[in-house]
Amino acid sequence: MSEAANWVRVAAVGDIAEGEMRAVKANGRDLALYHLEGGEFRCTDNICTHAYALLTDGWLEGHVIECPLHAGQFDVRTGKGLCAPIDIDLAVFPVKVEGDALLVGLPA
Ligand code: FES
Repeated sequence: MSEAANWVRVAAVGDIAEGEMRAVKANGRDLALYHLEGGEFRCTDNICTHAYALLTDGWLEGHVIECPLHAGQFDVRTGKGLCAPIDIDLAVFPVKVEGDALLVGLPA
């Protein structure tokens, strides 16, 4: 991925417990923020690439998100689709922590 141009504050570090996720909107885009076990934060598009469903309505198991509609799965670290019916990977965005803020790097 090329260097993101826009860092947008989307949440506070304390907003998402470890092992949890949250839907956020930034620059009109639906994003899913994940706080993985071990402390790492990740961000992906929140809309499944298969049809219309919000991934944050699904289930996070380790670093795998399962879509609530047809049980497609993605690795939230890479966006890679892991099983049928997913044939398009998910967009991922870099996350950084600044003080108590979580920032996501979005394309310009
Ligand atoms: S909408 Fe997500 S797997 Fe079908």
